Amino acid sequence: MKRGVLVTGGAGYIGSHTAVELTEAGYEVIIVDNFSNSDRNSLEGIRKITGVEPKFVEADCCDKEAMRRVFEEYEFDSAIHFAAYKAVGESVAKPAKYYRNNLLSFINLLELMLEYGRKNILFSSSATVYGDAEVLPVTELTPRKPATSPYGNTKQMAEDILRDMVAANTGKLCGIALRYFNPIGAHPSALIGELPRGVPNNLVPYITQTAAGIRECLSIFGDDYNTPDGSCLRDYIDVVDLARAHVVAIGRLIEERNKQNYEVFNIGTGRPVSVFELVHGFESANNLKLNYNVAPRRAGDVTAVWADTTLANEELGWRAERELIDTLRSAWEWECNVRKQ
Ligand code: UFG
Repeated sequence: MKRGVLVTGGAGYIGSHTAVELTEAGYEVIIVDNFSNSDRNSLEGIRKITGVEPKFVEADCCDKEAMRRVFEEYEFDSAIHFAAYKAVGESVAKPAKYYRNNLLSFINLLELMLEYGRKNILFSSSATVYGDAEVLPVTELTPRKPATSPYGNTKQMAEDILRDMVAANTGKLCGIALRYFNPIGAHPSALIGELPRGVPNNLVPYITQTAAGIRECLSIFGDDYNTPDGSCLRDYIDVVDLARAHVVAIGRLIEERNKQNYEVFNIGTGRPVSVFELVHGFESANNLKLNYNVAPRRAGDVTAVWADTTLANEELGWRAERELIDTLRSAWEWECNVRKQ
């Protein structure tokens, strides 16, 4: 029988790509999503790509009784927790909304896993935990910085909750936190991808919507940083590569190859790319010109952050493979396709 993996937030951007990779690796995926920041069409996209209808329950992970029914009904020994809010600016304006949703959903899940004897959990963390790091690239031992937004704080707090619950339940709970850098791009089929609601906060959806004529002009937030071209440096990771990191990490837990009960891995490419480089890369990958101007710095942005990926490479046996140009092509193909759906 196929092994089940519960994927909360599995209709969302990273969750849907991970559902595809898990299915293609032979797992049975059970998706829970409440469509608070995702679209039903992504379930159809998963089905079209894999040829398998994903098992799906519409529920809010903060609703413990609804989640209990998922545990009663489905067989799985592992879970991946994507379900969370992620808009940095909104979290500053509505902190309680972020703390309640991001933390309560995770605590519910962990408690139910213990209650029902389900052992393995992957948590979606973020490079945001490193803040403005003094030494680059960042390793997993780079000290975390105090969060600059409630969103960032929920990532740090959830990491700590997982660490402490694993420590208190030896043999019953094993966890891995994956610290994502900047996920971009879409599945090569262009059947699933990122679907921001309203004005995008993140760079690549803003670029693709500008190219599509939905936004008039991209603002590049600052060209006076202490970097080679003055714009910020980030580690942009293809979402399919990122999804595959989940498949290897869940396999590590299932096959008990983990070295500690709680582990942390950076999931990035190890390659810093500036905002200008990304914009020009997008233009040449897709053979088009983008309307952009330089605007003042955005509050809260760090100058540069990119990953030391040695641990993920050596311990997980995983590395990012897709070329940036292909990733930027996939982002545009998705943008062109999504309006037709
Ligand atoms: N940027 C622009 N114009 C835009 C949008 C972004 O110039 O319209 C710039 C930003 O200033 C930054 C870079 O593009 O220099 C990347 O910005 P994103 O908003 O795409 O990504 P961030 O690095 O700010 O944040 C992302 C996720 C967070 C996560 C963080 C971890 O949004 O959830 O990476 O590093 F925590």
